[in-house]
Amino acid sequence: MEYPVTRLRRLRRTEAMRNLVRETHLEPGALIYPLFICPGEGIRKEIAPMPGVFNLSVDEALKEAEAAALLGIGGLLLFGLPESKDEQATGAWDEDGIVQRGLRALKQSSAAKKLVLIADVCLCEYTSHGHCGIVKQDGDDNEIENDTSVRLLARTAASLARAGADIVAPSDMMDGRVAAIRDELDEVGYDQTPILSYASKFASAFYGPFREAADSAPQFGDRRSYQMDGANLREAMREIDLDLGEGADMILMKPALPYLDVIRAARERFDVPIGAYQVSGEYSMLQAAFAKGWLDRERAMMESLLSIRRAGAGFIVTYFAKDAAKLLA
Ligand code: PBG
Repeated sequence: MEYPVTRLRRLRRTEAMRNLVRETHLEPGALIYPLFICPGEGIRKEIAPMPGVFNLSVDEALKEAEAAALLGIGGLLLFGLPESKDEQATGAWDEDGIVQRGLRALKQSSAAKKLVLIADVCLCEYTSHGHCGIVKQDGDDNEIENDTSVRLLARTAASLARAGADIVAPSDMMDGRVAAIRDELDEVGYDQTPILSYASKFASAFYGPFREAADSAPQFGDRRSYQMDGANLREAMREIDLDLGEGADMILMKPALPYLDVIRAARERFDVPIGAYQVSGEYSMLQAAFAKGWLDRERAMMESLLSIRRAGAGFIVTYFAKDAAKLLA
């Protein structure tokens, strides 16, 4: 069956033909849109390295939620910018915290019936030092304490579930947090709230712009003692295995484009829903090229999302969610 009998170009000749044989598809319902909720009213502050992404007060976040629901987007991933930060990340687990308030308001809206509301669970937006856990000073060294952090993360998850989160998504990379969150949720009556674990999260330069959006850059050191080394695929599989063992219902892989092989490996190995997060730096990088006219906006955006899907992600967290959903409509 060689040329000229087999001519693969036969199936590429028309758009209709290409549509018929397409192997991978995108749909708005598989896209999750991140929102950064801040205090105040009428606030819509653009994040410099992320054109089209804003810090939104609750009233403005409601408008975004309506728009997302109308476009058929699958859900929202919520982050918060608290009024103040401290060493214990009080704002993360405060019943009246910023995301908790956002969730209560969103829950009342008609958009909420169509959207899955996912609350990111982490301490970094709420700690004065910007780390994802509690810091213990040991002489000149700073240690990010695992187990005390886990207790606060569990408390945070419970408070977000009470405020109305449909799913809680821990992104801190402390050991044992999934088990602790599951225990806590079950204990306070949220045994039906799923955990989407950022099981495979690499220490990445591509989170840079997010840290500006969430005002969460670490004030000293970096996140390499808890996020994974980008060189390690096998370790990512162990992280996922452990999180599933601890009760994670689904997993999130991150970043996406630079780690497509890790997504593919996870897809082949684990029979759970898998999402991938096209992170801030991936978005900024494309936006910068669009601004310069160096890449075609629509094609590059859709190609990046399609690649993530093809690698095996069932759903994609992306700042392009609205733009992509519009094109898919
Ligand atoms: C919180 C968190 C981060 C991101 C998602 N959750 C920041 C980080 O780990 O530094 C990054 C998302 C993005 O870059 O878009 N820990």
